[in-house]
Amino acid sequence: MYDREWDLFEDVFPPVYTRSTAVSVELLGLDGGSTRLPERGSLLEVGCGAGVLAVLGALAGCERVVASDINPQAAANAARNAERHGVQDRLRSVQSDLFAALDPGERFDTIFWHSNYVRGPEDYEFDSVHDQAYIDPGYEAHRRYLIEAPHWTTPEGSALLHFCSRGDIEALRRIAESCDRGLRLLRTIEVHEGEYGDDVVEHLLFEVNPLNGSAATSS
Ligand SMILES: C[S@@+](CC[C@H](N)C(=O)[O-])C[C@H]1O[C@@H](n2cnc3c(N)ncnc32)[C@H](O)[C@@H]1O
Repeated sequence: MYDREWDLFEDVFPPVYTRSTAVSVELLGLDGGSTRLPERGSLLEVGCGAGVLAVLGALAGCERVVASDINPQAAANAARNAERHGVQDRLRSVQSDLFAALDPGERFDTIFWHSNYVRGPEDYEFDSVHDQAYIDPGYEAHRRYLIEAPHWTTPEGSALLHFCSRGDIEALRRIAESCDRGLRLLRTIEVHEGEYGDDVVEHLLFEVNPLNGSAATSS
């Protein structure tokens, strides 16, 4: 991808079987478009998978990148790709359930999650870490992300969510409202899937903002 070779470890979300990783990259303008990332800024990629976006962020000039994933193999995979592309000095990878394993004082100019947007039943049990790349039971992880992400940004920073029309957008909006979070739609990209390209999937980039001007809601 992007004229580079990448390692892909077993049980890590494959960035090549669907266009969704490339859409993430495009949503942030890291495909050669105009980038949304502040120059020399910091980036936290939650749910980094193989680390393609995090590495491209570092190559695009981010001075500090953290690539995190709940799947330990994904965190290891991102570290390997950082080394492969010579950005290990500014990209750190960590296994973490959302923000749980981060340094509590760390703040980021941009936080980004290309989420597991399929809403599973609340009692859904994962068969594998691979499952967890697609499904979020009851949107419990989305709820936590909406609440917690704004706490981890710098004062001018932004917390972003790459969601998709295959997810339950109405449920996401209801959850956001219930935890005092606004979802500002920044950009959409349509992808044509299916044998004849007639299955249109819309990818959405939301900015998560505290309503009432503060991120004070406890996490
Ligand atoms: C749709 S995949 C995206 C992977 C990668 N960013 C890409 O675009 O190729 C979602 C990722 O979120 C991770 N994930 C799911 N729940 C998580 C959580 N609670 N905390 C951190 N990462 C999580 C999954 O392991 C998976 O790697």
